[in-house]
Amino acid sequence: MGSRSSLTSQLRESLQRGLWIAGERMPSLRTIAKLHHVSVATVHNVYTELVDDGLLMALPRSGFVVTIPEQHTQATNSSLNARLASMLEDETSGHFIPLATSLTDHRLLPSKRFAKIASTIAAQPDPGYGQQSGNRTLRRQLARRYASTGMSCGPDDFIITAGASGAILLALSAVTQPGDTVLLEQPCYPGFFTLLKQLQLQPLPIPLDAIQGFDLNKLDEAFSHKGTRALLCCPHFQNPTGHLWTENARKDIIELCSKHHIILLEDDIYSDLHHTPQRPTPLACTSTDAVICGTSSRILGPDYGVGWLYTGPLATRINSNQHITRPGGFIQRMVAAILTNGLYDQHLDHIRPIYKQRVTELVTCAQTFLPAQSTIHCPQGGTTVWIELPQHIDTTRLAAGAHNAGINIAPGSLFYQNETPSHALRLNAAFWDASHVKAIETLGRLINRMH
Ligand SMILES: Cc1ncc(COP(=O)(O)O)c(C=O)c1O
Repeated sequence: MGSRSSLTSQLRESLQRGLWIAGERMPSLRTIAKLHHVSVATVHNVYTELVDDGLLMALPRSGFVVTIPEQHTQATNSSLNARLASMLEDETSGHFIPLATSLTDHRLLPSKRFAKIASTIAAQPDPGYGQQSGNRTLRRQLARRYASTGMSCGPDDFIITAGASGAILLALSAVTQPGDTVLLEQPCYPGFFTLLKQLQLQPLPIPLDAIQGFDLNKLDEAFSHKGTRALLCCPHFQNPTGHLWTENARKDIIELCSKHHIILLEDDIYSDLHHTPQRPTPLACTSTDAVICGTSSRILGPDYGVGWLYTGPLATRINSNQHITRPGGFIQRMVAAILTNGLYDQHLDHIRPIYKQRVTELVTCAQTFLPAQSTIHCPQGGTTVWIELPQHIDTTRLAAGAHNAGINIAPGSLFYQNETPSHALRLNAAFWDASHVKAIETLGRLINRMH
């Protein structure tokens, strides 16, 4: 028989940890009594005590309802991870103007058609775990897409992974040992720092200018750095700057990698969102050192996110039997079907002009309301816009002020090693609508007040 006081503290802790959330009904007195081997009267007394504590509310003849708002006690191992987590949460909370992430607009998805595909798949027999490298139809579809850009590849060149991050982890674990160095762009997607840390690798950030791209002399120098194994880069519509490699840069970087025997890890996640008539061609079309990391999450949203790795030169170095983190079979079959029946391309044809228009509107609005000395980089693909404000503006402070005004933005510091203060910021145009004009006007006012 449990004691009343231990049951009270157990339930109090459960409520504080968010096992039940505000508005939810607590389990019945009988259920809790049975589970904890106490009398119904004891549970009633415990619930009454929790009412006195302000955690529950008694409803006449309808039991007890939770009143405590959901608490988030998720452990994060760094201030960067904590900042990213709260930025993501705020973005989808409905309480902020969502300009901070690089998510795309889920409202544009053909959800009825997706629901139909999902019910067809659910009615099919479960094929079990299937192949270690992932669903073969999905890999064949990916191979066809990449082959249409001029790459020579087949389904066996692809491994399905848990997001692009899973692909990057897999590729890096095949070419590095703890302590090795990986070159990356600065600024870059902050998740790269977390991935490198996980594998105990040293990041060596190479400055990347939103217009000029890499400083090739610096890159050449870094290639000679002992223990450098890979260049992790996003050549098409880089996150966060939107930079697109020029043909010359592409040729030079491919040559440098070949000269120094460095693996080119191409993060290809924004290429399909080109505003230009053609999709940029993957580096693997012209480089035998290039590996591709991709994901469907930028096009179909995180719910339909499967990642993939085009193994290229690493084919014999990756043992797919050791590759155990991959998305569930259902979601792989779902994405395979969306690709096979042409829905993926139809959706792309639909969203590309919309995002191009939204990006243009955001840029125009920023030109109107942000200080004249700002540099606003209009990307040729993707949904985000990189803005360099006057040097004296610390955008981490600006983001805090914007947050208080109900606007979620990504300060530049997020994209630099050790969160170095920055005068730049990244704004996402994916959810843009006329009501966001006011948010940019507010940002302009906040900036003007900063000295
Ligand atoms: C450049 C870049 N690479 C990788 C990722 C992570 O992709 P995934 O969520 O599929 O792991 C992101 C996400 O924003 C990104 O911007």
